[in-house]
Amino acid sequence: MSLDQAAELLACPVCRGSLRVAAHTVGCEAGHSFDIARQGYVNLLGAAEPANADTAAMLDARARVHAAGVFDTVTEMIATMASGRSRVLEAGAGTGHYLAGALGEDADAIGVAVDVSKAAARHCVRTDPRIAALVADVWRPLPLQDRCLEVVLAVFAPRNLPEFARVLHPAGRFIAVTPRAGHLVGLRDAYGLLDVPTAKAEQLAAAAAEFFDLIDTRVIKYRVPVDEALATDLIAMGPNAFHQVPRTVTASVISIDVTVQSFRPLNS
Ligand SMILES: C[S@@+](CC[C@H](N)C(=O)[O-])C[C@H]1O[C@@H](n2cnc3c(N)ncnc32)[C@H](O)[C@@H]1O
Ligand SMILES: [Zn+2]
Repeated sequence: MSLDQAAELLACPVCRGSLRVAAHTVGCEAGHSFDIARQGYVNLLGAAEPANADTAAMLDARARVHAAGVFDTVTEMIATMASGRSRVLEAGAGTGHYLAGALGEDADAIGVAVDVSKAAARHCVRTDPRIAALVADVWRPLPLQDRCLEVVLAVFAPRNLPEFARVLHPAGRFIAVTPRAGHLVGLRDAYGLLDVPTAKAEQLAAAAAEFFDLIDTRVIKYRVPVDEALATDLIAMGPNAFHQVPRTVTASVISIDVTVQSFRPLNS
């Protein structure tokens, strides 16, 4: 099972020691032990799920949007940037859709999904058998060994840059996807959704400069027709779902408008 394969990458969230995977638990030599959930993920959070963790309904909506192919061009760009690299972490992984894409066709690749949401971890386990799913907070020290990963992905997700730099191999890549001002703009205008702050990619590049060289930047921009159900899911999968999802949503043509950036660790 995927947790077994990923064991060598994991670190105890309490003492940083290496973790061993047993039948129903994951534990370190110092005796810290964490239950493996029936569905196959392990909860290393050590606290209640925070209020901003994506809910099961949000994740189901996100999974339907991905299954419809709305973000396929983004998935393909990530897979191209990650190709040939087989130890991949996705931070704030959601359903693990982009992580599975980044693992490509390599049957021996190992994906580690980190998300604060237990519903996300459940999705990740189902998305791809190569994914080990951890419930953990990206803002805390990551439960991973130093320099053990070839790719860290953060797709519309929180970015703990010092931790990403610590867990990446010197030849690894940090790949980030951030929304641009035009992302889902039609839906946002029609339904008064939360605004995308502008210049996210530029802000990330500035913040990342302490740890990484920016080596590739791609803007991906296209329009997709979506029916009512898919338009509703696009609203329901995002932060607006914490506030309200409009009762009637009409079919429309939506804009995908994102930046994909690839960074390499400094001094690599
Ligand atoms: C907008 S979703 C993106 C999910 C996925 N990367 C995708 O694009 O399909 C953000 C995800 O980050 C997770 N998240 C939010 N804060 C987090 C944190 N502090 N640590 C780990 N995950 C977090 C949420 O539960 C959610 O699944
Ligand atoms: Zn320990």
